[in-house]
Amino acid sequence: MKHFLDISDLERAELVGLLGDAAHLKQARAGRSQGTTDDGAPLAGHVLAMIFEKPSTRTRVSFDVAMRQLGGETLVLSSDDLQLGRGESVADTARVLSRFVDAVMIRTFEPEKLIELAEHSSVPVINGLTDASHPCQVLADVMTLQEHKGALDRLSVAWSGDSNNVTQSWIHAAARFGFELRIASPQPLQPGPDILAWGARNGARITVTEEPQTAVRDADCVVTDTWLSMNHSDESSRHNLLRPYQVDTALMACARPDAIFMHCLPAHRGEEVTGEVIDGPQSVVFDEVENRLHVQKSVLTWCLKD
Ligand code: CP
Ligand code: NVA
Repeated sequence: MKHFLDISDLERAELVGLLGDAAHLKQARAGRSQGTTDDGAPLAGHVLAMIFEKPSTRTRVSFDVAMRQLGGETLVLSSDDLQLGRGESVADTARVLSRFVDAVMIRTFEPEKLIELAEHSSVPVINGLTDASHPCQVLADVMTLQEHKGALDRLSVAWSGDSNNVTQSWIHAAARFGFELRIASPQPLQPGPDILAWGARNGARITVTEEPQTAVRDADCVVTDTWLSMNHSDESSRHNLLRPYQVDTALMACARPDAIFMHCLPAHRGEEVTGEVIDGPQSVVFDEVENRLHVQKSVLTWCLKD
C-alpha cells in the first residue's frame, strides 16, 4: 500500500523519481488541450474520491483534471454531504470508501484524521492539506524551483511569514532535496521544536530568525503564505505580528537579483505580499499552480500503478 501522506515519509530517490515523472508528463502534454487523455490512459478504470473538509480551488481542480487526463474518474465529496459530517467514524468511512474507489484524497483539519483514514483504508490515501502539512503543494513548488533555478542542493530558499502547514512541508523538502531553508517568523509563530529536531536529524540545513532581511539576504527564492490559514481564527493578533514580514520590493531587493517569488495561493495582496511583487517579473506563482497538475499525476500513478 502506497499512501502519500507527507514528503518526510518518502526517501530522496522516490521523491526525485516523482519529480522526474512529473517533468515527463508535463513535456508529453505540451500543446495538447486539457480535455485529452494521456497516451495509454494509465489510470483508466480507476476512481479517486476527494473529501474536502475545507474549501479548495487548486487542489480540487488539479486532482480532478489529473485523473481525467490519466483516464480515470473522480468523486468530489464535501464532509457536509458525507455521514462523516454527522459523526460516522473516520475508520468506517475509510472501510466503506475502500469498497468503492481505488484511492482517496482528503483535505482536513487534524493530521491525526488523515493518519486514521490511511490506517483503516485498503486503498491509497493522499494528503490534500491538513493543519500540519501540504505535501502536494510543496512538491509542485520544488518542481517549479528546479525548473527556474536548476540543481536544488545549491539553492537557498527564504520563507517570510507565518510558520504554517506549508512551511512544515518545506522543512521536509529541505531535508530530502538538500537546499538551504531560512525561515523568518515572529517568535510565537516559529516552527516548533519537534519539526526542527526532525530537520536536524535528517540533515536539513535550516535556520530560523525573527529578521526577514537576514533570511532573505542573497536567497534564490523567497516564499510566503497567508497570515490566516483555514484553521486559524486569531485574525488581528496574527496581522499585528506578521506585518513586518510582508514580502515587498524592498525585501525582494535583499535576495539575489535573479531570485524568484513563490506563494501557494490564495494570496492576499497588501497583506503577506504586495501586488507589485506577486504580479511582478520575479513571481512564478502560476507556474506553481500548473505544476500541481503534473506532480499530482505522478503521485497518483506512483500510488496506483508502480
Ligand atoms: N494552494 C492550494 O492548495 O490551493 P487551494 O486551497 O485552492 O486548493
Ligand atoms: N496555509 C494555507 C494554505 C492554503 C492552500 C491554509 O492552510 O489555509
